Amino acid sequence: MATYVVVGLQYGDEGKGKITDVLSAKSDYVVRFQGGDNAGHTVYVGEEKFVLHLLPSGVLQCKGKCVIGNGVVVNPKSFLREIAQIEEKGMRTDHVFISRRAHVIMPYHILLDTYREEEEGGTQIGTTKKGIGPCYEDKIARVGIRMVDLLNPEVLAEKIKKSLKTKNSLFEKYFEKPTLEFDEIYNEFLALGETLKDRIVDTEVELNQAIHNGKNILFEGAQAAMLDIDFGTYPYVTSSSPTTGGVCAGAGVPPTSLQNLIGVAKAYTTRVGNGPFPTELNDETGAEMRRIGHEFGATTGRPRRCGWLDLVSLKHATMINGINNLVITKLDVLSGMPTLKIATKYKTEDGKIIDYFTSSTTKLYNYEPMYEELEGWTEDITQARSYDELPANAKKYIEFIENYLGINVYLVSVGPERSQNIIRKELF
Ligand code: GDP
Ligand code: IMO
Ligand code: MG
Repeated sequence: MATYVVVGLQYGDEGKGKITDVLSAKSDYVVRFQGGDNAGHTVYVGEEKFVLHLLPSGVLQCKGKCVIGNGVVVNPKSFLREIAQIEEKGMRTDHVFISRRAHVIMPYHILLDTYREEEEGGTQIGTTKKGIGPCYEDKIARVGIRMVDLLNPEVLAEKIKKSLKTKNSLFEKYFEKPTLEFDEIYNEFLALGETLKDRIVDTEVELNQAIHNGKNILFEGAQAAMLDIDFGTYPYVTSSSPTTGGVCAGAGVPPTSLQNLIGVAKAYTTRVGNGPFPTELNDETGAEMRRIGHEFGATTGRPRRCGWLDLVSLKHATMINGINNLVITKLDVLSGMPTLKIATKYKTEDGKIIDYFTSSTTKLYNYEPMYEELEGWTEDITQARSYDELPANAKKYIEFIENYLGINVYLVSVGPERSQNIIRKELF
């Protein structure tokens, strides 16, 4: 039996989709365990670009099954749209399944997310407006609608009626917006259940059997540690646990079954949405990273904020996740930069030097990163396929990260295409 977990270590968009795609060729199962269609995972196959939001990135080359676990919040309409896009390209999707326990993103979740973000003095987290937070709220409040409910007309009717009572009151009285009609939502979601019924299964039972039978299982994280509801920069976070710990609750597999914990980090840092970002560069260097790295959100198209690599936050992320294999992506984007900076400590507002991440999000805005400077390289590294082919300064950059974190970089990604990798150790 071998299990693999791929998680993001920064603020999302580290290249998890690309790495999942690479590893999925040898996986019997590829499993999403949290988040929803707020994710945007890009995979290049030759010149062809795929962006997966809700489907596991393994859908493209996994010969086994792709699973949307119970911890995911599912927008059934997005799901069907993505399925159609994949099928249009002549690929199969009959191997994609959804947990009966996964919660459903309803139209009122999306509206609530949007109204809150757009309200003057509202939350202003800069969410993707996909209804993620409100759907998880209902789950925790025990009033959510699960995939299994779409298959039971009476239960579905009762649950929608109850939800609409409170949501409509909020829309009407607080946001001064139109209310929603029961019939329209009920009929639409009943029909969605009918369309999806053969894909809605007890995924946790099958996954545990697969573990028992020694299959290769790959768990694909969305978002990342610094967006984690507990360990990220709260409240500028998403509403789930995108850490390795989230796998057990989000897929129904025991902690003892998790083996290869793979953390993905960019060679620099990006963030989309609001919240503190200590190493952010609001200058020409940041703009150059955005231009060369094509740093625009895969889900919302927003320009990503860019900055230097932050090892203080990365250490926090690897600790929470227990990472035992690191992946560094987009090293190629740094080619040509004369000097590279890496944050190794922060200076607090009262002049104290610290090397750990803080839970006080408001204070973080005033922390000043302290940098080590490394010499850059000028060579194009996008064709390198072995570690020895990298320029000496690129190797020094990788080794600096390894030494600080005490974890080996097992894969260096040097371009968006699925073959642009330097694999230093075969994990399978
Ligand atoms: P994810 O959300 O973690 O899957 O990452 P995204 O797909 O949102 O963002 C990563 C972006 O970087 C995508 O456009 C990828 O095609 C691209 N990418 C991934 N790895 C590399 C790399 O090593 N070099 C370059 N230049 N681009 C990469
Ligand atoms: P992938 O899987 C980058 C950010 C949003 C916002 C915050 C909360 O592609 O790495 P939400 O809609 O989840 O309530 O928004 O989280 N965010 C992401 N940023 N990559 C993502 O996913 C993200 N998913 C959510 O921008 O700041
Ligand atoms: Mg993304």
